[in-house]
Amino acid sequence: MEHDIADPLAAGQRKRVVVTGAGGQLGRALLESFPGARGLTRADWDVTFPPPGGLAADLVLHAAAWTDVDGAESDPQGAAAVNVGGVQHAAELGVPLVTWSSDYVFDGTKREPYVESDGPSPLGAYGRTKLHGEGAAGELARVVRTSWLFGPTSKNFLLTMLRLGAERDEVAVVDDQRGSPTYVGHLADSTHQVLELPPGVYHVAAAGDCTWADFAEAIFEDAGLATRVRRISSAEFGAPAPRPAYSVLRSEKGAPELPHWREGLHECLRRLGAAASSPG
Ligand SMILES: NC(=O)c1ccc[n+]([C@@H]2O[C@H](COP(=O)([O-])OP(=O)(O)OC[C@H]3O[C@@H](n4cnc5c(N)ncnc54)[C@H](OP(=O)(O)O)[C@@H]3O)[C@@H](O)[C@H]2O)c1
Repeated sequence: MEHDIADPLAAGQRKRVVVTGAGGQLGRALLESFPGARGLTRADWDVTFPPPGGLAADLVLHAAAWTDVDGAESDPQGAAAVNVGGVQHAAELGVPLVTWSSDYVFDGTKREPYVESDGPSPLGAYGRTKLHGEGAAGELARVVRTSWLFGPTSKNFLLTMLRLGAERDEVAVVDDQRGSPTYVGHLADSTHQVLELPPGVYHVAAAGDCTWADFAEAIFEDAGLATRVRRISSAEFGAPAPRPAYSVLRSEKGAPELPHWREGLHECLRRLGAAASSPG
């Protein structure tokens, strides 16, 4: 197989891998998937500033990001400082870079999966910052667009549903947005394959798709919770930021294919010791 010579991993050299956003859900999963990598939290490097002097890296896995979609509407400049400025600073290290972007760069008017050649048209401030961040990533970057991340740590929909499910008989969940909930463990592991592809933009998300309400029902079912899901519209939910009604991502460029979201859910619940069938 032909490898990008700019990628020292492909050349089989020992390399210093740096993971930013190391306290986030993807950052933690990357540290598991790349044993020996050096994880940097915000305290180590606030990415709105240039990289700390003397930071040695052969590969940067840039998982630091502003991910508060609603918060970006009220502070777009703060979001841009992290999602555009942060990516630019990571690129300044001048080594191969992987950075993650979002399905929210699309407006959701399509009704079949978005591929890499589809034109982005973000609906909200978060999506705009992620799109501009893609542009700031530079020529050595692999930009991985992904969707609806969940994992055993940090803040995410799965952990919110487990908490609400333990407290309530019924939870109201949006049923008019469709996407692919992606397990961070699967996404992190796929980065090894992404590194074998040339720099560029790639779509990497779980197989299958569903609405948030479908996802919530699957979570309750697999966690053995009796909580009911009341299906509501985005308008009824009333989140400050608009979100695409449809944002399923697939690759037309040979990006890695991930397991089905339901498999990711099983794996994550097992990990949390929360699966209905789990002995733990
Ligand atoms: N979450 C999703 O559903 C989703 C969907 C599509 C794409 N993505 C993209 O996937 C990537 C990973 O997301 P994630 O879900 O792992 O996010 P996450 O759990 O929110 O983690 C983001 C991390 O970035 C750190 N961070 C924020 N501002 C920083 C700064 N100025 N300097 C240094 N670190 C900073 C945060 O630290 P603090 O804890 O200190 O704030 C946090 O540890 C992001 O690029 C995101 O845009 C996410």
